[in-house]
Amino acid sequence: MHSPELSLRSRLWRIRLDRPSNRIVIGVALLAYLLISWMILKANGNPPIHLHFDASQLVDASIAIKVHVAGALSAFVIGTMLMLGVKGRGLHKTLGYSWVGAMMVTALSSFFVVGLNGNHFSWIHGISAWTVIGLPMGITAARRKNIASHRKQMTGMFVGAMLVAGLFTFLPGRMMWSIFFTNGA
Ligand code: HEM
Repeated sequence: MHSPELSLRSRLWRIRLDRPSNRIVIGVALLAYLLISWMILKANGNPPIHLHFDASQLVDASIAIKVHVAGALSAFVIGTMLMLGVKGRGLHKTLGYSWVGAMMVTALSSFFVVGLNGNHFSWIHGISAWTVIGLPMGITAARRKNIASHRKQMTGMFVGAMLVAGLFTFLPGRMMWSIFFTNGA
């Protein structure tokens, strides 16, 4: 629960300080992301990178990828609102169930998306499996009024699944990266 007088800045600060394990997950994921990106770019001869916007890959993508991205972006927006501590029990419940629905759509649709590991599932599908199992557990904890466990599970899911899987979609060469960056001279 956040007191009404908490500013947006202090709420964000509280989220960052909330649980050390979440900060470690974010830190390790960021380091891994930077290292892997550096290795990919080095293997490709360190091409110059430019910002651009070209969503044609997404427009031409399969239905599964479109559903996946729509679910993921919705889950990101709703999840951020929940993490900022929206007020009102009813609103929290509505947003919470919407977030669970969006996360389920994101995770389930990802089982119809392959490519990183050829035609096989990749390690990111492990995050999807964890999400499918973890979401009902987080809801059960809330229904049993075990708020500490509910908060821990849902925050862990937002950080460990949403932020980490979302970050890795921006690895050089992947679709989200190609929408915003180009190797062109
Ligand atoms: C903002 C968040 C996210 C965005 C924008 C996003 C976007 C995408 C896109 C465009 C793809 C297909 C193209 C590619 O692999 O480059 C993809 C694949 C995938 N995503 Fe996401 N995603 C997000 C979050 C998530 C989350 C939360 C999960 C898991 C719960 C997830 C799991 C996967 C999996 C398993 C794949 C297939 C990887 C493979 O090819 O083996 N994504 N994502």
